[in-house]
Amino acid sequence: MSNICVLGTGYVGLVTGTCFADMGNNVTCVDIIEEKIAKLKQGILPIYEPGLEEMVERNVHAGRLHFTTSYEEGLDNAEFIFIAVPTPTGANQGAADMRYVETAARMIAQELDHYAIVINKSTVPVGSGDVVSRVIRNNLKRPEVNFAVVSNPEFLREGEALSDFQHPDRVVLGSSDPEAAQSVARLYLPLRAPILVTDIYTAEMIKYASNAFLATKISFINEIAQICERLGADVKEVAEGMGHDKRIGRAFLDAGLGYGGSCFPKDVRALAHMADEAGLHPQMLHAVMDINHDQRRLVINKLTNILGTLRGCVIGVLGLAFKANTDDMRESASIDIIRWVTAQGATVRVYDPVATETGRVALEREGINLDMVEFCQTSYDVATGADALVISTAWNEFKSLNMLQVRAAMRRPVLIDGRNIYEATEMNRYGFIYRGIGRGTGPAPTILPPGDTTSILGEAQLLSLEESK
Ligand code: UGA
Repeated sequence: MSNICVLGTGYVGLVTGTCFADMGNNVTCVDIIEEKIAKLKQGILPIYEPGLEEMVERNVHAGRLHFTTSYEEGLDNAEFIFIAVPTPTGANQGAADMRYVETAARMIAQELDHYAIVINKSTVPVGSGDVVSRVIRNNLKRPEVNFAVVSNPEFLREGEALSDFQHPDRVVLGSSDPEAAQSVARLYLPLRAPILVTDIYTAEMIKYASNAFLATKISFINEIAQICERLGADVKEVAEGMGHDKRIGRAFLDAGLGYGGSCFPKDVRALAHMADEAGLHPQMLHAVMDINHDQRRLVINKLTNILGTLRGCVIGVLGLAFKANTDDMRESASIDIIRWVTAQGATVRVYDPVATETGRVALEREGINLDMVEFCQTSYDVATGADALVISTAWNEFKSLNMLQVRAAMRRPVLIDGRNIYEATEMNRYGFIYRGIGRGTGPAPTILPPGDTTSILGEAQLLSLEESK
């Protein structure tokens, strides 16, 4: 059993601290936000992450997991100090903002009175390990105290963070102090995962390169999707066919509205910025970002292709979170879609299984006029009176809706499937005008006059719809 302190109780900090406690360690999580810590002490989590609440409760109850706002308390006897504070995009053209990491390092320097290993889990620009070392060294209140710095990037996906922590594909450790890296490796041994020990610069780079590569896969398949749509191929089957090749792999080849969240957008920007700063021209990274930006526009193009003007229309949006199984709204496609649709004079009805509150806050922060947005309790409420439905997040519950009921509630049966969760033939059978992303199977775009579905659906389709009712 080791004594561990985790600085920062965001996704990474809370999951890391709780999982280490669950492995039998004594963990103290520190956050400077008093309200967050007060709530955590009552068992109320600041984020939605499946399984985390129970695990926090179990470990608090067992006396292995503690929360405090005091660095002094957190660092007391800590052998390992994990820095897991945010590194958002800063004001400087995509560079990561290191303010919180530097503050954490300064606070460690003030309180540290014994040897400890400081482990950087936050995603920091290559070379930041040196910065952390320097900040601690320069601010040490007790200059005789020794410490080591290790980089240990995280590879946790929101929504799957617990299983990603417990069953990692690899653990990466970087340090100029091999003994310190070995000590951290021992913490991870029970997970029986491959552990790669390297230098600190390389470890930091592995994190950026991994996220940038996954983002590249997504932008690649989204570009292929556009080509598929034009040439009549179906990108879902293309991805399936490609994915069987072990050299390619099926993961992260889902075409859709592109990547969002707190990681890919920020990390691709930061890596491109680092390369630019180094005098390089990272063409691929810029293309990845451009494709991702354009991808969200497709929804608006598809809507106007079918509905003509959006002025006066009611657009239903299913899903607010940037992906399923999270309430995280950061860089979510839904924000752009709602912004653009309302800017064109449409009103929006929206539902998300868990992200209604975070969604409301995010939309307001983005300056979107909330008078134009109605937050609904169910998907069927969203469909009621809507001229079109847009699937913006691939929540499981959207996959099992009664689509006949959905269609019957709508004013016009237009379904824009931004996450490719439905099949065109089935949706056509229900009487929808269906458009996915990169599914070159539907008929050419047609302008649908308000209230009139017969001209688009054809009598045969309407007939089969009536029959199946
Ligand atoms: C991502 C990485 O997957 C983690 O390994 C990493 O640790 C984390 O960032 C981080 O740096 O902290 P996360 O942002 O939680 O995790 O979400 P992902 O599941 O990777 O999805 C990112 C975005 O890509 C989502 O918007 C998702 O909808 C989109 N995506 C994903 C696609 O559009 N297509 C796909 O095939 C896969």
